[in-house]
Amino acid sequence: MAKFQAPKGVSEYVPDRSSHFDYVRSTLINSAQVAGYQLVELPVFEDTELFARGVGESTDVVRKEMYTFEDRGGRSITLRPEGTAGVMRAVIEHNLDRGQLPVKVYYSGAFFRAERPQAGRYRQFYQVGIEAIGLADPRIDVEVIAVADRAFKELGLKNYRLEITSLGDSATRESYLVELRAFIAGIEIDAETRERANLNPLRLFDDKRPEIREAMSKAPILMDYLTPESAADFAKVQELLTALNIDFVVNNRMVRGLDYYTGTAFEFAHTDLGAQSAIGGGGRYDGLMAQLGGQELSGVGFGLGIDRILLAREAEGLLLPAESGLDLYIVPLGVGDAALLLAEELRNRGIKVDLAFGDKALKGGMKSADKSGARYSIVLGADELASGVVHLKEMQTGESSSVTLGALANELIERISNYGEHL
Ligand code: HAM
Repeated sequence: MAKFQAPKGVSEYVPDRSSHFDYVRSTLINSAQVAGYQLVELPVFEDTELFARGVGESTDVVRKEMYTFEDRGGRSITLRPEGTAGVMRAVIEHNLDRGQLPVKVYYSGAFFRAERPQAGRYRQFYQVGIEAIGLADPRIDVEVIAVADRAFKELGLKNYRLEITSLGDSATRESYLVELRAFIAGIEIDAETRERANLNPLRLFDDKRPEIREAMSKAPILMDYLTPESAADFAKVQELLTALNIDFVVNNRMVRGLDYYTGTAFEFAHTDLGAQSAIGGGGRYDGLMAQLGGQELSGVGFGLGIDRILLAREAEGLLLPAESGLDLYIVPLGVGDAALLLAEELRNRGIKVDLAFGDKALKGGMKSADKSGARYSIVLGADELASGVVHLKEMQTGESSSVTLGALANELIERISNYGEHL
C-alpha cells in the first residue's frame, strides 16, 4: 500500500531533532517569562475577517497565503497566519485591556501560510511571540527587542543582525504618504502593482523585481518625515539599545510583511541562512486594537521563527549533544514486573528513568542502556531482588557502587543535584 507523507511544505520534528526544537522553544519562552510575559493559548483558526482587517488587504499573507475554508456551519475560517491579530481579538473579548496596563502575553505554536516551500520557509511553521498592549512608551519597544536578543544570546547565536526602523506616527505617515503616492503616480507599473500600491504604497519597497527596485530607489524615505515626537521616540529606542549593549543597524527601507506596523519596527536577520534569513521580527502597531473594534490602545511585540532559529543554530554548529536527559536505565533480567514497579517508584520521586522491555539478555540490555544516553544504569535480576542490593553504574566512567534498593532513590536524587557541579 502506498505510504502516507506529511503535507507538502510543513515542518515537523521527531527525535532526536525534536529535543533541539524543544530546547529552542523553551529558551525563547523563558526569556519572555523572566520579563513578566504570561501565556495565552489561542485557537489556530479564527474568523477570516479578523486577518483580512488585522493583517491588511495589501499583504501577500492575506492576498495569497491564507488557508481559508468554510466550516460546517458555513462560516469562513482561516488557519492563523500570524499571532498578533488573534491576541488582540482575545484581549478585547476577555476585557484584559480593562485591567492593569500593559497587558504582557506570550504564545507559542503553529502558524500557517501557503507559501512556496523552500529551505526555512514552510506552510506550517512555529513561532514564539510576545505582545505588550496598552503602553505608548519607547522603553517597552526596547524591552521587547531585549527579550528576543537575550534568547538569541542564550542560544549561543552570534551571526545575526538586528535591523530597526521607525514607521512614525499617523501624522508622520499622513504627510509622507502624500509624497510617496505622488512619486508612485509618476513611475511606470502594471495595473496589479498599482492596485497594491493604492492599498499600501509602502508595499512597493518590498517588491523584488529589479525594475521596481530601481524605480523605488529614488522614492522619498519615511524616516525623513518623522514628526519631532516620533523622531524622539526612535532616538530613545536607539539610546537604550546602546545602553543594553544590543547591536543594531538602522535600515530606513525596511518593510514588514504585515500592514499594522507604526513607530518602531525591527527584524533579526541571520547571516548563514540564505534567502529566508529573518529569524524574527516585530514592532509597534498602535492602530490595530481600534481597527479590530477595541479601544485606542497601542501595542508592540514580536514573532520569532523557531524553525529558522533551529537552522541558524545548526549553521553555527551549535548542535546539542544528543542527550536523552535520562538519569537511570534499568536492565531487567527475567524480572520485568519488578523492574517496571521500581521504575515507576523512582519516576514518582522525579527521577528520569527508562528500562528495557521484553526478554533481553544482559548484553542486549547493556547495549540499550548505552544507547539510551542515561547517566546511570542498574541490572535487576532475581539475585538483586533477593539481596536487596544493586550495582549503580556510572555510564561514562564505568565505575559502579553498591546501593540498597531502599536507598536507591535518595542516592540518585543526591547525585542528580550534584550534576551541575561537574559541568
Ligand atoms: P513575521 O515577520 O511575519 O511577523 O513573522 C515572524 C517570524 O516568523 C519571521 O521572522 C520568521 O522567522 C518566521 N516565519 C514567518 N513565515 C515563515 C515561514 N513561512 N516559514 C518559517 N518561518 C516563518 C509576524 O508574524 C508578526 N505577528 C510578529 C509580531 C508580533 N509583530 C508584532 N507582534
